[in-house]
Formats: sequence, C-alpha cells, structure tokens
Amino acid sequence: MRIAILTSGGDCPGINATIRGVCKTAINHYGIEVIGIHSGFQGLLTKDVEVLTEKSLSGMLNMGGTMLGTSREKPFKKKGVTTDIDKPALIARNFKELGLDCLVCIGGNGTQKTAAKLFDMGLNVVSVPKTIDNDIWGTDISFGFDSAVSIASEAIDRLHSTASSHRRAMVIEVMGHKAGWIALYSGMAGGGDVILIPEIPYDIHRIGETLLARIKKGKPYSIVVVAEGILTDGKKRAGEYIAQQIEYETGIETRETVLGYVQRGGSPTPFDRNLSTRMGGHATELIVEGKFGRMITLKGDAIDSIPLCDVAGKLKLVTEEHDLVVQGRRMGVCFG
Ligand code: F6P
Repeated sequence: MRIAILTSGGDCPGINATIRGVCKTAINHYGIEVIGIHSGFQGLLTKDVEVLTEKSLSGMLNMGGTMLGTSREKPFKKKGVTTDIDKPALIARNFKELGLDCLVCIGGNGTQKTAAKLFDMGLNVVSVPKTIDNDIWGTDISFGFDSAVSIASEAIDRLHSTASSHRRAMVIEVMGHKAGWIALYSGMAGGGDVILIPEIPYDIHRIGETLLARIKKGKPYSIVVVAEGILTDGKKRAGEYIAQQIEYETGIETRETVLGYVQRGGSPTPFDRNLSTRMGGHATELIVEGKFGRMITLKGDAIDSIPLCDVAGKLKLVTEEHDLVVQGRRMGVCFG
C-alpha cells in the first residue's frame, strides 16, 4: 500500500506528532509506504512531495509547526478563480499518478470540507481534526487546543501582577476564530474576572458594573479575557475595542494585550502529543480496515471516527450550559 499525508490551514502544536503517529504506525506496523505532500492541497496540485522515512520523522514528536508546510489552498473554491484549471480534476489525476491508496488530511474546518468533497469524488480519504480553536464538530477536543490554552493561561497569570501593581484593568485578546473555547478555558484557568466569547452577547454597562463592584470589594484590579471573534465596531480588534469601552464606561485605567500567534507556535503539551499520537495511529488503522471518508474523533477518552459528511460545514461552539460557564457564573465571573 502507498498512502500520502498533507497538512492544511493554520498550523498548530501537535501536527508533527500526528504525522509521526500516522507514518510510524504505517511503516513499522503495516509496511505501508508513506509520501508527504508539501504545503497542503497546493502540493497535491503540483505534485510537490517527498517520501517519508523513519529518519525524516526523527525529533518530530515535540516539534511545533508542520514539517510538511501548509497553505490555505481550497481546491473547490469558486469565488475569485482566475484560471481555467479544474483543480479537483487535477488532484484526482495526481492522486492516481502518485499511485495512492489513500490520502490523510490533517486540518481544521476548511480541510474537513475539502476532504469530504474529495471523498465524494471517489478518492480514498481519511482525516484528523487539527486546530487550536477546538471548533471542529464531532470531536470533544482537537489537538493543538490544550497547548494554546496552556500558553494563554500562562500569559494571563503573568498579567495579574502588573495589573495589581498599577491597579488597572487588563484586557487580553486570545484567538479562537468564531468560537470562544480558548477564551473560556484560559480565562477560567487564569482566574479571569470577565470573559467575553462570541457565543454570549455582552453589555458594556454590566461589564463596567462588575469592574467597579470589584473595586468596592477591595479588589483594585481586574483581568478581562476577550475572544477575537466577539462583536465590535467592526474596525478595531476585539481587545482594543473592549479596553476603550471599559475606560469610557468606568474611568478605570485599562490596557490591552493581543496574544496572537504565540498561541500557535512551539512545542505541544504532553496531552497534545499523546492525543496526536493516538489520532495519527488510529487514522492508519482506518486505512488498513478500508474505512474511508471518515474523520478521527475523541469521545470521552476513546478514539473513534465519524463520516466526513457529518462534520463538513458545521461548527462546534460553546453553549451557556457548558459546565465552566455555569460554575464560573456561580463564582462571580462576568460573561458579559
Ligand atoms: O484557526 C486557527 C487560527 O489561529 C484562528 O484562531 C485565527 O483566527 C486564524 O487561525 C488566523 O489565521 P491566519 O494564520 O490566516 O492569520
């Protein structure tokens, strides 16, 4: 058997550990040949590939980024297309010419959609969910999320002392795209006083009241964790917008920090390394069993898989019933 693997969309910690999980299981356990495709679906259009060996996988378990490179190439996207190239047809041709029995796609929501469409075209595909945003439907957790939460939580911890020294409100903007998972988990782990996520509408007066009430209670500083995807004036970044609104509303001196790509860089946490290893290994199992058109999932502590057609086009968002929101509210955290 000969399989290929690619990574597509934004990078995150744990991708290399997943590639290693897929490939080492394939090479060591099943004697399957593995080809790495460079730069996501872009590399499948140009046949930019390399043969992966145990040697090329050395040192990859704890390495950030993706050894294969990535791109946001969407071969099925019609909008703004200026060439006459039929990209899906070209991919199908290259798949055949490379002699592939299956393609493993590691990626986020966009990648799952593309993988589902390739499967519908008749290509053997399996996929692994990857994103710091944790917003892929059908899996409890995607690898990369735990690492991003760990980085964001540490950053929030560090803001407490400077906020306290200057008696300020500190706003920290974290990633998450349209979902509030990183803000919720890092905000709660970091002892945030206000946590704003796209899923829960906020009222700036209520946020102001929360911060002023804290001062009355003898707590002269506050930490406000803001997801990048919350509603703003549409011009400013979420963190900057909320910091300005807080100053207007309360007169409290306020500063903002945008954590940015630090959340996506560097080594995966031990949790993410093991999740990646398990998901990668199980992806190879699916291929050997001939179960194509499926995405690997984590349900509770069990690795499973679901049909790609069930995942594509959906988002997994935070709900107000989530236990961290419920417990946070009971403890006085303002969610807006
Ligand atoms: O999906 C991961 C993510 O880091 C989001 O949290 C963020 O909105 C986006 O990617 C940034 O994308 P880009 O790498 O294209 O700037």
